[in-house]
Amino acid sequence: MAHQKIKAPKGVSEYVPDRSREFEFVRETLITPAKRAGYALIELPVFEDTELFTRGVGESTDVVSKEMYTFEDRGGRSITLRPEGTAGVMRAVIEHGLDRGQLPVKLWYSGQFFRAERPQAGRFRQFYQVGIEAIGLDDPAIDAEVIAIADAGFKALGLKQYRLEITSLGDAQSRAAHKVELVKFIAGISLDEATVARAAVNPLRLFDDKREEIKQVMKDAPLLLDFLSEASLAHFAQVKMYLAELGVEYVLNPRMVRGLDYYTGTTFEFVHDLLGAQSGIGGGGRYDGLMEQLGGQSLSGIGFGLGVDRALLAAQAEEVITHSAFVSDLFIIPLGQAAKKASLKIAATLRKEGKTVEIAFGDRALKGAMKAADKTGAKYVIVLGDDELTNAVVDLKDMKTGQSSSVKIDSLLQLLTTGL
Ligand code: HAM
Repeated sequence: MAHQKIKAPKGVSEYVPDRSREFEFVRETLITPAKRAGYALIELPVFEDTELFTRGVGESTDVVSKEMYTFEDRGGRSITLRPEGTAGVMRAVIEHGLDRGQLPVKLWYSGQFFRAERPQAGRFRQFYQVGIEAIGLDDPAIDAEVIAIADAGFKALGLKQYRLEITSLGDAQSRAAHKVELVKFIAGISLDEATVARAAVNPLRLFDDKREEIKQVMKDAPLLLDFLSEASLAHFAQVKMYLAELGVEYVLNPRMVRGLDYYTGTTFEFVHDLLGAQSGIGGGGRYDGLMEQLGGQSLSGIGFGLGVDRALLAAQAEEVITHSAFVSDLFIIPLGQAAKKASLKIAATLRKEGKTVEIAFGDRALKGAMKAADKTGAKYVIVLGDDELTNAVVDLKDMKTGQSSSVKIDSLLQLLTTGL
């Protein structure tokens, strides 16, 4: 009996060759600037106690109220697949006492996240982020550096058609002053019951509502940016000054609230022009009360999460990933048993020196092996037969120009490095 094929669950992003090479390239490129700024890896579980997210991310958010993959484990505990990374990082920082040492604690992470959203282009139920968190300092220079690190990742990818939007959600005093006016404003508009309930938990959420009718009524709503306390204003002015100093361009978006409740002060989002509805390629901000909320001391923090799937889509749309970023340096075609043995050795030696080398296994005819070499996009090809072995000389073929030169096997390493 023929068995039915099993497919991947709906809406997950997965990467198989050749696209997985591009994915890996994007992921590594995006996080490299953070490593160069001294951020250290933190590797965390993909599932946590549900309460971490209800308390950390906030019950009024879509992420917590509608999008979490929550289930009971075999011990009857409520478990949730992580919808984002910041709450888990904070949990681990508190649990391992990392905040008792040198501040700021600077961490980076990379991995899968899960949100039960309606799948569409660029929106997945399992997706990938790289992110950083800098915990324990209030210095506006860190805000600017964190933003600049994200920007450097996108720039290193070669992306150009995106903009950085920033705002400040202020300190507790600013938000309290704004809330009074915002609640007054909301009381004057007609809303459905569910929206009124959401607004009661966090009225800022209405700025984030995607429905056209809500967008319309919120047009005249009071903006938090106009209610910043003196301290918040001064902090934000410094952030902008540092960004200008760093040459990081930005636009102000005073209506941005972001989809997670923990944000305070500087918040930002990177928006790409060619991605349609799912245009956010990364975002982040300060979260000054989060650590305390999760049972830790009262320390501030700031960080970002960059969407690897979306950055890859953006890179594709801008056609900035060149195939040559991934190809092998050398493809060896051995003819016969002795040549196969020698190929294995040559490949091992070159790989030890950092070269990417492939061998045509399987005793294929020369023509088929050449085709395979061509398909891999290898930079150079050598054919190794008895004559070549006897003389320790091979024809090194440059696959781009089609030219061949007779070279010593011993000098392959040097030639692969400097070119023919
Ligand atoms: P977020 O804005 O919810 O922030 O997610 C960050 C990025 O993840 C988004 O800009 C987007 O590129 C990507 N992303 C989110 N949801 C999806 C999805 N369903 N499919 C594909 N990509 C998606 C956070 O998660 C915060 N933890 C960031 C942060 C770190 N804030 C402070 N520190």
